Amino acid sequence: MKANYFSGKNVLVTGGLGFIGSNICHKLVPLGAEVMIYDACLDPYGWNFANIKEIKGKVRFIKGDTRDAKALAKAVKGADIVFDCASQISHSISVEKPLLDIEINCVGALNVLEAVRNSGTDPVLVYAGTRGQIGQMKYCPIDESHPTDPVDMNGINKLAAEKYCLLYHKLYGLKATSVRINNAYGERCQVRHADYGIVNYFIRLAIEGKDLPVYGDGAQKRDYLHISDITDAMLIASEKKEAIGEYFMLGSGEGVSFIDMCNLILSKTGGKSRLRMVPWEKGRKAIEIWDFIVSHEKISKCLGWSQKTGIEEGINRTVAFYRERRSEYF
Ligand SMILES: NC(=O)c1ccc[n+]([C@@H]2O[C@H](COP(=O)([O-])OP(=O)(O)OC[C@H]3O[C@@H](n4cnc5c(N)ncnc54)[C@H](O)[C@@H]3O)[C@@H](O)[C@H]2O)c1
Repeated sequence: MKANYFSGKNVLVTGGLGFIGSNICHKLVPLGAEVMIYDACLDPYGWNFANIKEIKGKVRFIKGDTRDAKALAKAVKGADIVFDCASQISHSISVEKPLLDIEINCVGALNVLEAVRNSGTDPVLVYAGTRGQIGQMKYCPIDESHPTDPVDMNGINKLAAEKYCLLYHKLYGLKATSVRINNAYGERCQVRHADYGIVNYFIRLAIEGKDLPVYGDGAQKRDYLHISDITDAMLIASEKKEAIGEYFMLGSGEGVSFIDMCNLILSKTGGKSRLRMVPWEKGRKAIEIWDFIVSHEKISKCLGWSQKTGIEEGINRTVAFYRERRSEYF
């Protein structure tokens, strides 16, 4: 990252009270950016004012919904950079309430694009994409040429939103880019329920001395990435012209089985918590993607991103965070 790039820049972060958005804000504030958060505080998502406690008074906050095109357009006016992190993120809710998912993830995302297009300041837009856009892994590691065949509504609607971003770049020259985030964990993720952010949720259970329920044999391999590496990627994508009009897979490139991840959590929390193997729930199994390992070659080569936080360090940091802040998150 260039040292002075963000200094004095007006940056809008939609969904900025949530996990990814608030951590982006934490990176931007020390770099001198003027940060505005636009968040609708919707449940059961990860908004939490504790997420911005340390930067309170250094960021501005507007309570607003991306489905409210008028309010959004007002918030985007004057922005130099927009990070779009507002989302209905739950895979199971997307199946139960497909129209809600379309409203937030498609209509909301289009409202962001229209607001950016009409803002008059030609801001860079970084879209928070997801591994869910891919579906199940057909070859390993997954790169940007991998077919997209989502297993739930969320993946379909997020894929559509990313395509809108790239189309707006082609049609209107909008400076849009998408980073497809994959198995994020780390400080400031919601841990109130297990619907998403399972690594963080299991850290909570382990800290509380409760058993970790593992579906099936837990052998599926995932590519876990600590939040600080994700926010690095998002910031780099916002400053590099090579990112414009492109989309990037983001991951560590290394597969770790879910059961190994659980054992690592247990070893770092050291309480009386144990693994409990349980049969798959039907609904969960239907939208499971099994092994998922990502190539970071494109984002590394094009933008110079590299992973800095390994899994042991990442889990240590996350455990320490929730131990200290349990009253704000549990
Ligand atoms: N956390 C992950 O593992 C992960 C993985 C892949 C992609 N992503 C993507 O990153 C983005 C952020 O996810 P997160 O993990 O920070 O989720 P989160 O639930 O922690 O935060 C989402 C935030 O968006 C807000 N929000 C939801 N709908 C809104 C709307 N219509 N208008 C304004 N605000 C709204 C919520 O109030 C919440 O604060 C999402 O686009 C998600 O698809 C996350």
